[in-house]
Amino acid sequence: MRITVHRKAHFNAAHRLYRKDWDDDRNFEVFGKCSNPHYHGHNYELIVSVTGEPNLETGFVMDLKILKELIYDEVEEAFDHKNLNVEVPEFKELIPTAENIAVVIWNKLRTKIQEDHDLEVTLYETPRNFVSYKGE
Ligand code: NI
Repeated sequence: MRITVHRKAHFNAAHRLYRKDWDDDRNFEVFGKCSNPHYHGHNYELIVSVTGEPNLETGFVMDLKILKELIYDEVEEAFDHKNLNVEVPEFKELIPTAENIAVVIWNKLRTKIQEDHDLEVTLYETPRNFVSYKGE
């Protein structure tokens, strides 16, 4: 019996989607408003999902208090109220799209979660636009 537990979290962050090797017009054409040279913010909503067999003694797949602290340390501390392009080393050379942010979060959490548990990260950039990644 495998069950999935979920933890929701939130962070605000600024970003700019652009390629240095493209001019502003080309960047605007491809990335739209998210290419604004002066940056802009999003209210990111994060769902971290962990799937596994519940522990026989505790009945927990994973202690959600531990998951909460893990998300706080690895994601909120690193990203909240930050300019992702400028202040977060992972995005120095990586465009901070929702896709890439989800992959970075997944990679950070994967090493901290029990190996036989599956991990999925769902990231909302807006209430209607969201991505999910499970390491495939
Ligand atoms: Ni944006």
